[in-house]
Amino acid sequence: MNGIKIAVLGLGNVGRGVWKILHKQQDMIKEYIGIPIEIKKVLVRDVSKNRGIDVPPHVLTTNIDDVLLDEDIQIIVELIGGLHPAYEYIRKAIEMGKHVVTANKAVIASYGKELIQLANERKVLLRFEGSVGGGIPIIAALSKSFAANEIEAIVGIINGTTNYILTQMTRYGMDFKTALHLAQEKGYAEADPTSDIEGEDAAFKLSILAFIAFGVYVPPQDIPREGITRISEKEIQYAAQLGYTIKLLAVARKHEGKIDIHVHPALVPNTHPLAAVNDEFNALFIKGDAVGEIMMYGKGAGSLPTGSAVVSDIMDVACAILSGRIMPYTYKHSGQELRINGEGEGEYYIRLEVVDKPGVLGKISTVLGNHGVSIASVVQRGRGERIVPLVLITHNVERKRLDRALEEIEKFDVVEEVASILRVESHSG
Ligand SMILES: NC(=O)c1ccc[n+]([C@@H]2O[C@H](COP(=O)([O-])OP(=O)(O)OC[C@H]3O[C@@H](n4cnc5c(N)ncnc54)[C@H](OP(=O)(O)O)[C@@H]3O)[C@@H](O)[C@H]2O)c1
Repeated sequence: MNGIKIAVLGLGNVGRGVWKILHKQQDMIKEYIGIPIEIKKVLVRDVSKNRGIDVPPHVLTTNIDDVLLDEDIQIIVELIGGLHPAYEYIRKAIEMGKHVVTANKAVIASYGKELIQLANERKVLLRFEGSVGGGIPIIAALSKSFAANEIEAIVGIINGTTNYILTQMTRYGMDFKTALHLAQEKGYAEADPTSDIEGEDAAFKLSILAFIAFGVYVPPQDIPREGITRISEKEIQYAAQLGYTIKLLAVARKHEGKIDIHVHPALVPNTHPLAAVNDEFNALFIKGDAVGEIMMYGKGAGSLPTGSAVVSDIMDVACAILSGRIMPYTYKHSGQELRINGEGEGEYYIRLEVVDKPGVLGKISTVLGNHGVSIASVVQRGRGERIVPLVLITHNVERKRLDRALEEIEKFDVVEEVASILRVESHSG
């Protein structure tokens, strides 16, 4: 019996990982599915590039029509990246009745809802496990393993680059720039790291997760986000003294008919399992009403970890083709209209630089109190200097309320600056 023929678009980091796994595991895959999987075509920009793998020349092409118009090819595996032309290729493939597997978070976050609908109409499958969390099977977990649950919260470290940078800053007292350079040298950060360090990459992934978990589509550009570029060694030190570690968190949490969704650097208590997720690793902390709290941990990127997710999607689609069970993609609906609440309420860490003289704390607490902001703890360290840091941790408060109070406080002569405002993520779920 002939194998299932697939085409791979892109033979970069992930494409090569997929190629290697499909070749290394070909016997096991054949046994699992019943017939082999055969890569018939690979689309690249430059066929002459040395890729360190042995690809027969007749397999390589630079012409997308060689793939789309080939009726033997049943599954298209999109690993080009970026929005365009990846989106157009995926759309065209679905329209032509081909199943699609992709690891493209930008396309799924921006057009996933529309593409899922189109795939359902055309009775083909669209799979995207590799788009979030690299090798961590989070999409399968949310859509299948936790199907019996109402998901209450997702709190994740879903960007390996920023986690690596923050880990170096925390462990070795490095400044942000030095840690970023190190991440670039080690291949954990791209030459242009903007999307990672500004939280855009995490917002793409969070948009996908919220859609799968809550059935609510929040366009990535509508997710309030803040990156890690303003995190200083000082913040990391003060947080450590208070028993916290700073992490870039992606949070989607449901409560009272609303969904709070945001990407922010946050202070995580050292007792929370996410505080121990270091280096380039990712982790997702999920709370379901039946399962309780679950944490998934692993490599969130890389050729083979992401390749592992992509190949498992390919195998899943191949099994569905052979069994004739092409089920429409169903994502969970909460059964209620969830209002998108952006940042919502939270506890905050505030560092003020103030003149070291009596009465300053009293003045500041009065203004905070007037705005309904209550203080959970205060650390003031006089070091015999004129200006000293005053670190406050608030109880739960709406960000707008806090900003109004800080606007007033910043005008005091005794306040040099509001140096930092960070969220504190002390909920377990
Ligand atoms: N890298 C990771 O660890 C990782 C993790 C999770 C998800 N992802 C996602 O996986 C996807 C691929 O990432 P990657 O790191 O493998 O990217 P990459 O290393 O930059 O590889 C991209 C590949 O696509 C080809 N390509 C780009 N534009 C093309 C075009 N217009 N026509 C034909 N071929 C084109 C390139 O061809 P040439 O080689 O000829 O230039 C290259 O082989 C992205 O969506 C990314 O977000 C990556």
